[in-house]
Amino acid sequence: MTHQVRAVVARGKGAPVSLETIIVPDPGPGEALVKIEACGVCHTDLHYREGGINDDFPFLLGHEAAGVVESVGEGVTDVAPGDFVILNWRAVCGQCRACLRGRPWYCFDTHNAQQKMTLASTGQELSPALGIGAFAEKTLVAAGQCTKVDRAASAAAAGLLGCGVMAGIGAAINTGNVGRGDSVAVIGCGGVGAAAIAGSSVAGAAKVIAVDIDDRKLVTARKLGATHTVNSKETDAVEAIRELTGGFGADVVIEAVGRPETYQQAFYARDLAGTVVLVGVPTPEMKLELPLLDVFGRGGSLKSSWYGDCLPSRDFPMLIDLHLQGRLDLDAFVTETIALDEVEKAFERMHGGDVLRSVVVL
Ligand code: APR
Ligand code: ZN
Ligand code: ZN
Repeated sequence: MTHQVRAVVARGKGAPVSLETIIVPDPGPGEALVKIEACGVCHTDLHYREGGINDDFPFLLGHEAAGVVESVGEGVTDVAPGDFVILNWRAVCGQCRACLRGRPWYCFDTHNAQQKMTLASTGQELSPALGIGAFAEKTLVAAGQCTKVDRAASAAAAGLLGCGVMAGIGAAINTGNVGRGDSVAVIGCGGVGAAAIAGSSVAGAAKVIAVDIDDRKLVTARKLGATHTVNSKETDAVEAIRELTGGFGADVVIEAVGRPETYQQAFYARDLAGTVVLVGVPTPEMKLELPLLDVFGRGGSLKSSWYGDCLPSRDFPMLIDLHLQGRLDLDAFVTETIALDEVEKAFERMHGGDVLRSVVVL
């Protein structure tokens, strides 16, 4: 059996997305069919539409999603029909060299559904964004991409843990290993940076310094747990962070912009032996130059954070529980909820800077 559902598709480079009917097969071995309840609009979706990821059009967009498992294929035991799940784009394989060494959050062989979803009008195979494709009433994924969480959370808030918000929280609590009493600075307070602030706060950081060039982002940052804010358009970020940390710099500095100049700020705004976490994603032409003596002399560690080094089975249920206990405000990331046919408008609004996340609610 197949399912005909409505979905948001990017048909060609730079062209506005369109609402299309797509055909979703029943789940085969190891797969799950998920009825989507909500899906956040992420920069990566826009990136796909602009041809910035690859040329495998048409793309089925959407990847920050939560929904309910409708049916599962042969051999699936971890999730069952009726489970409320968050989708992830790194299903752990259990067998690659990272998994076998007990570091499944680095899994080098993550997998997606084997069967293809297609466009009803032309029969063309769709490329689901990040192997998910959740701006759709239903989507087909590998069962390992589904993590069951407490049904009491709203789908709009829960779905955001599937990508950007997890990347930010994980940059703080997993990659940066932020702990009780630490001082943390976060450079760039969009959805990812704001999540790093919330993550640092819930991990017990004593000081959380938010840095952005946009005052509106700093207001949200405070709501999510920033103890200090710095507008780096007006003030030198490195000096300000040092001043707020007794002249030394922060224990952990999280770069959530993805630019050489902000990475450089992060590098010099941390204390000796401190940690820099790069979670912002640079573009191919960007280069970084640093005195090698400073790299050595300042010690500590310079890390990159992939998807917040998250392990969905460990992190999603835990973060949803913290949310339901009122300790992690995931609702604060949902700036607006929109309908399936408003994704293109949400892309336009992204450039305005007043949105953390627009979330499609189905
Ligand atoms: N200094 C400080 N902040 C900056 C600077 C700068 N030079 N340039 C931009 N910013 C701020 C913006 O004002 C904005 O608040 O960085 C923030 C970026 O946020 P978003 O555009 O909403 O992006 P977000 O979804 O948070 O992702 C940030 O992480 O995962 C990656 O690909 C993603 O590279 C992107 C980064
Ligand atoms: Zn995303
Ligand atoms: Zn693996």
